[in-house]
Amino acid sequence: MEGLDIRLSRIFRRESGRALVVAVDHGMALGPMSGLTNIKETVARLDATGMVDTWLLTKGILRYAFPTRGCPGIILRISGGATIAGPELTREALTGTVEEGLAAGADGVAVSAFIGSPYEHETLTGLARVAGDCRRWNMPLLGVVGVGKINEDKKQDPRFIALGARVAAEHGADLVKTYYTEKDFDRVTAGCPAPVLIAGGPKCDTDMDTLKMIYGAIQGGARGIVMGRNIWQSPHPEALLAAVDGIVHKDLEVKEAEELLQECKNKKS
Ligand code: 5RP
Repeated sequence: MEGLDIRLSRIFRRESGRALVVAVDHGMALGPMSGLTNIKETVARLDATGMVDTWLLTKGILRYAFPTRGCPGIILRISGGATIAGPELTREALTGTVEEGLAAGADGVAVSAFIGSPYEHETLTGLARVAGDCRRWNMPLLGVVGVGKINEDKKQDPRFIALGARVAAEHGADLVKTYYTEKDFDRVTAGCPAPVLIAGGPKCDTDMDTLKMIYGAIQGGARGIVMGRNIWQSPHPEALLAAVDGIVHKDLEVKEAEELLQECKNKKS
């Protein structure tokens, strides 16, 4: 086994070949948002479930909220530099290096590319540059596919999402995080040679909506999730994680996951 495979095996669970990744990297652009205000507490609480395979985080969070009790995988985000207060959220640049990831003990690094935004070129060439460093160090690269504000509607267009996922893989991403499209998501996974994981986006109305989205993605060929708000902004994050784990790793149907969610909620109360 080479370093790349060893690191990937810490990101993906061996039994299912899929990954349940919880993203807590939002503060770098959005500040102390609900669910992540006390980042240390959120991470410790979710980590205690033992169901988080891997965390997606920033260098600051790695410093302030870790180590966890378990030995989860870590993907270090090394792009950023733009906030909601600034002129353009898609104007990300590299904020770290693969070497920094190695020194931190990370199992992967993440870089955003904003397809269809004014910064498409800069962010894609940044991704490709990091891909070169990743090859040298056997470090997996998660390509985070974003879209510009003007393209919000495109998040539901499978042709556009398929374009972004494929482009990220062609620029060297080993894993691709993108949006779930209710329609034809299998076109997205079929057109991308790298494993596709879905982001959650803004909080769904209910936990059941989150479970249905994840189920649809797995059925459509997703290799897991990289999800934040829908997990840690849930009123029952631990119970929800158990149900998500059931869908991602144990091929539960939505109904079975709902029963598990209810069971775990009852146990807690
Ligand atoms: C934040 C991100 C997140 O990692 C990504 O969007 C996943 O989180 P969520 O499920 O909340 O969308 O890129 O900048």
